[in-house]
Amino acid sequence: MNEKTVITILDKKRKHEKLTMLTCYDYVMAKLISKDVDMLLVGDSLGNVKLGYENTIPVTVDDIIYHTKAVKRGNSGALIVADMPFMSYEIDVKDAVTNAGRIVKEGGAQVVKIEGGSEVIKQIKAIVDAKIPVMGHLGLTPQAINKLGGFKVQGRNKKDALKLINDAKILQEAGACAIVLEAVPEDLAKKITKALIIPTIGIGAGRYCDGQVLVVYDMLGMFVDFTPKFVKRYGNVGKTIQNAVKNYIDEVKTGKFPEKRNIYI
Ligand code: KIV
Repeated sequence: MNEKTVITILDKKRKHEKLTMLTCYDYVMAKLISKDVDMLLVGDSLGNVKLGYENTIPVTVDDIIYHTKAVKRGNSGALIVADMPFMSYEIDVKDAVTNAGRIVKEGGAQVVKIEGGSEVIKQIKAIVDAKIPVMGHLGLTPQAINKLGGFKVQGRNKKDALKLINDAKILQEAGACAIVLEAVPEDLAKKITKALIIPTIGIGAGRYCDGQVLVVYDMLGMFVDFTPKFVKRYGNVGKTIQNAVKNYIDEVKTGKFPEKRNIYI
């Protein structure tokens, strides 16, 4: 098995090879996709798409550990990145290192992802010093939804754009191994990508990032509560599931299932 590491990811940027990341929250999905994709993200988007919360705020460190363990069991070769959920790193540096340590030690993640820039830099440095790789997350940071006032494109004006560029540089200096850029104008993402030696992974950040990430249920057409503009559907798995279930119900009702080959004699 060809195990991906943080070094693989940095090398790919150097060689101008595009990186791929998809969210993943369980064993079955990890078995299906981990051989092909570079990184699996146990995102706190599991709050929306797995647990049915309105946003990612209620997700806990224990939720992340539970899902990371399942992903780890199904993984064959992808780098496992897990989100640090809301309030697991903001309060103080000690908490941040303790929680990152649990996600790596108990969950089996190789990298933790943290939302925010200069305001969380002390935490990022301390986690990296504790030998845990950190992926940054800038632009639209869903854990800040109540402060941002909605899911809006970030960095549209000059001041905000400069802060994003500066935050990206500070994250790199602090030891981050990559940065997710979410919902930022394509030109700005391009500038940030050019300014860094670590890779940028875009979601709604245009074509010039070093890699792309999508929520797996969005791209498979399984989560249809809302679909942001940046999502491309590569399948209609939700419909396939509904059709299969209808077929099953029909066959049970009409006595077509079980068939002879499904019974014990
Ligand atoms: O939680 C998540 O799925 C994420 C991606 C949207 C990048 O952070």
